Amino acid sequence: MGRILCVANQKGGVGKTTTAVNLAVGLAKSGCRTLLVDLDPQCNATTGLGKTPAPRHPLVVLGPLKDSLLETATPNLELLPGCRTFADVEALSISTESQSATLRQHLASGLTAYDFVLIDCPPSLGKLTRTALACATEVLMPIQCEYFAMEGLTQMIEVVRQVMETHPARLEFGGILLTMYDDSLDLTHEVDAEVRDFFGDIVFRTPIPRDVAVSEAPSHGLSVMDYAPRARGSRAYLELCMEVLEQ
Ligand SMILES: Nc1ncnc2c1ncn2[C@@H]1O[C@H](COP(=O)(O)OP(=O)(O)OP(=O)(O)O)[C@@H](O)[C@H]1O
Ligand SMILES: [Mg+2]
Repeated sequence: MGRILCVANQKGGVGKTTTAVNLAVGLAKSGCRTLLVDLDPQCNATTGLGKTPAPRHPLVVLGPLKDSLLETATPNLELLPGCRTFADVEALSISTESQSATLRQHLASGLTAYDFVLIDCPPSLGKLTRTALACATEVLMPIQCEYFAMEGLTQMIEVVRQVMETHPARLEFGGILLTMYDDSLDLTHEVDAEVRDFFGDIVFRTPIPRDVAVSEAPSHGLSVMDYAPRARGSRAYLELCMEVLEQ
């Protein structure tokens, strides 16, 4: 069984999907069998790889996961697409612990064939994110270097701690990632220093710079490495891959 990284932060627009997609592509390019799971009804990870969301969510249908997997343009990378329809999102926002356990087992049983599974979560700490956390071996939290970054983290960490208590098996903090890093701003350096001071080694050495190539790539259905290999964002995501592989 490989590593299952849940990319989560209840704050919207901090770079979860961008990180899940680029890390998944980078790990697959380095030869790891990789699966990207889109658990967000916005389906940004699915469309960002140039794929179409599923009409029913593969996890709600409860058929074998492999029937729902899509090949991607990157060898070694498969995608479990997201789904936008309201009914399926409701069904996934399962209410009872036994339903949650069924979904968790179903998801977990489909993940054994991979070296890496990356789960892109919606911007909330609801059932979807909790289910993803309960299946995961690590949680990776992207944060933007801005004033409220630390406050959001505290709530997120409390939920991770609750999941760790209920499912003590194996969830660990995979790391905190500084995204949309703008070297020219004092605030960036202040938040960077504060986060590293507080969280120490679990903060990735590599920050992801704010780079227009990173934001353009999904509109071409590509990772930033395929869209603009020489861009700063590309190099940063490759360095992040190396750090994840070293862990
Ligand atoms: N390093 C970067 N440089 C420039 N733009 C970026 C960078 N990372 C992400 N973006 C852009 O910022 C926006 C938010 O990023 P993204 O969708 O990855 O965040 P998210 O946390 O998944 O959002 P949501 O909470 O809505 O799911 C997107 O338009 C994305 O293209
Ligand atoms: Mg997203």
